[in-house]
Amino acid sequence: MTDWTRRDLLKVAAATGCCGAMSGCKFPDPTPPRGQVDVGAPVDYPKDGAYDRLAKTWGIIVIRKGSELLALSSVCTHEKCIVQPVPEGFRCPCHNSGYNDTGGVIRGPSIRPLDRFPISLNASGHVIVDSTKPADDPANPGDGFVVNV
Ligand code: FES
Repeated sequence: MTDWTRRDLLKVAAATGCCGAMSGCKFPDPTPPRGQVDVGAPVDYPKDGAYDRLAKTWGIIVIRKGSELLALSSVCTHEKCIVQPVPEGFRCPCHNSGYNDTGGVIRGPSIRPLDRFPISLNASGHVIVDSTKPADDPANPGDGFVVNV
């Protein structure tokens, strides 16, 4: 009987196109809703840190830093694996790229920061993210990419 390693499973998954069902696999194909989406109330993000419950489905990570929330893409800018939160920020499980806690590259092979998405509060006080309009420059996204809660 053959013992399958994670590498073997990833090779089979890549060859058969079943990556979407596997954690950390290439081309996970998160499918965010188009336009502005409600990602919950500020109380859903109670402590400082990264919240990745929408990372695999909608491609969105919400980060709290003090009274501020910001939204990053969970899709690695190297070859589109889903990044995972780690103490220094985020790590890509595919080729080990590293990003800091605001998505800046700290280790290649990625050379571009994680995308930053516009974030705001709606009239009901819910957090709204638009993953269809990433900042042109994720390192200096400008107004509308941080919300105080
Ligand atoms: S896909 Fe993320 S480092 Fe290659």
